[in-house]
Amino acid sequence: MCGIVGYVGHRDALDVVLRGLGRLEYRGYDSAGVAVLTSAGMLAVARKAGALANLIDELDATGRAALRGTAGMGHTRWATHGAPTDRNAHPHRDTAGRLAVVHNGIIENHAQLRAELEHGGVELASDTDTETAAHLLAAAYARYGDLPLALRMVCRRLSGAFTLVVTHIDEPDLIVAARRSSPLVVGVGNGEHFIASDVAAFIEHTRNAVELGQDQVVTITRDGYQITDFHGARAHGSPFHVDWDLSAAEKGGHDYFMLKEIQEQPSAIANTLRGHFIDGRIVLDEQRMDTQELRDVDKVFVVACGTAYHSGMVAKYAIEHWCRLPVEVELASEFRYRDPVLDRSTLVVAISQSGETMDTLEAVRHAREQKARVLAICNTNGAQIPRESDAVLYTHAGPEIGVAATKTFLAQIVANFLVGLALAQARGTKYADEVAREFAELEAMPAAVAQVLGTVAAVRELGRELAPAKVVLFLGRHVGFPVALEGALKLKELAYMHAEGFAAGELKHGAIALLEEGLPVVVVMPSPKGRAVLHAKLLSNIQEIRARGARTIVIAEEGDETVRPYAAHLLEVPAVPTLLQPLVSTVPLQVLAAEIARQRGYDVDKPRNLAKSVTVE
Ligand code: M6R
Repeated sequence: MCGIVGYVGHRDALDVVLRGLGRLEYRGYDSAGVAVLTSAGMLAVARKAGALANLIDELDATGRAALRGTAGMGHTRWATHGAPTDRNAHPHRDTAGRLAVVHNGIIENHAQLRAELEHGGVELASDTDTETAAHLLAAAYARYGDLPLALRMVCRRLSGAFTLVVTHIDEPDLIVAARRSSPLVVGVGNGEHFIASDVAAFIEHTRNAVELGQDQVVTITRDGYQITDFHGARAHGSPFHVDWDLSAAEKGGHDYFMLKEIQEQPSAIANTLRGHFIDGRIVLDEQRMDTQELRDVDKVFVVACGTAYHSGMVAKYAIEHWCRLPVEVELASEFRYRDPVLDRSTLVVAISQSGETMDTLEAVRHAREQKARVLAICNTNGAQIPRESDAVLYTHAGPEIGVAATKTFLAQIVANFLVGLALAQARGTKYADEVAREFAELEAMPAAVAQVLGTVAAVRELGRELAPAKVVLFLGRHVGFPVALEGALKLKELAYMHAEGFAAGELKHGAIALLEEGLPVVVVMPSPKGRAVLHAKLLSNIQEIRARGARTIVIAEEGDETVRPYAAHLLEVPAVPTLLQPLVSTVPLQVLAAEIARQRGYDVDKPRNLAKSVTVE
């Protein structure tokens, strides 16, 4: 949450920072702000509540001349402490206005620090936790006359998770930044250096990056960067080359990133599968666990949040079926508070697109403290969750900028299947030819998803019809249940519509009372050729719904004529094996939610109150 960019080089810093912020807005859009060390020797700050566009409009109206310089930083906010107003927008300054700070995370001891500052006569100008750091830094700089040292000293006083970036009027050629449990990467250019929450901020200038470690401080100048720990000892980040380019972080002709990302799903699946079946065996990425350790696993927990949690629900069906291992799927935010029974033979699969979701990270930490082995499924190279896990499998979906998860959901499901097959292989619950057959079925999925994408126009048409609805219910059974939950989540977060997903069998235990004439109910049908009993049960459920006047919108396998008479709207998807059905049946629900949101006039990339990376608990 919150996006941060810093720059020292030879270009117009304001331009670099604003462009970078534009690509980090998915991290928060409650306010935006910039600080530039100007060529006239000033520290110039501009900040504005609302989306980055508000700040840009204001800068365009007032003129940018006062913010000309080659070193600067910026921030796009997801509000935690203090309302999303101009006054709480970052950067925050010390009383003399000689130093500016931007921050991502939460300074948990801010109340105590605020009291201490106020006791010392400092008047704080905002309601934020961040401003306490600005005043502490000013005092530390006055004492030591060294900005990196001042930052190290202040960091040692802070608790919580934070990334801080600092500029000082007396240090016009450098920017310093610190990282604890929030992301921070350095971009290494030619005669210029960058710092940012995500490489997307500087990808148009360089693809050479360095990931900062936990509790490290970095100083960037035009000519280089230097990393230390919070005590000043020399440290090294982890250099990496970004394997995607600017085009992946742009809309590519689509109105919204989300629409582009929906279209990218076939390649997200193909890229996630690539290189994982070699010489007849499933191979994971950084598998810092050997075959014996996988063989010794006697219980699996899947921990994740939101959409990633729904992908974990799909994993349960596959892993239990293929590996005959008990699997529990748990919301990461609940996991560590209920004392789960974990030991060395427990495998915890932590799923996170961003790799920085605080609830999931804390679940990982808890699991490791209890000696469980942790395997992360992540879309972000070098993020904190994979760094703190025993093994990692990357979803190679490419950057996902729309706040609503789409292509990463499908990629996570595929990665879960790879983990399931790796376990089955290690434990001998599947023969090699069976593993090969399952993998081949996965390899056929990009084409199946592409086929669903061919029906987008019909789904959008339905979206236009449903846009005035107040409530939509979603039903599914077996792997269709997480799809129903995901369809409802997409509609809630994008269209601000009341939507609920149910296990179809549960409907008659209460929620059926919600049904009334014309209420849209989306039903995710299983294949008639797969588990026949599931299909028959859902067919009965559809009739129960229709008997109460509700309007049935049915997602069914093409050629399933049994369902046609009971569907007010039928959305067909290609026939695929039962466990793989979420990969096709989720796609129309993503398109439907996006279209309803558009019809209602909402920004589908930036739904209200949300941020893509949830780095607070
Ligand atoms: O980065 P993560 O996968 O850990 O994020 C988890 C959830 O916050 C995320 O899936 C969220 O539910 C999506 N915005 C839903 O579209």
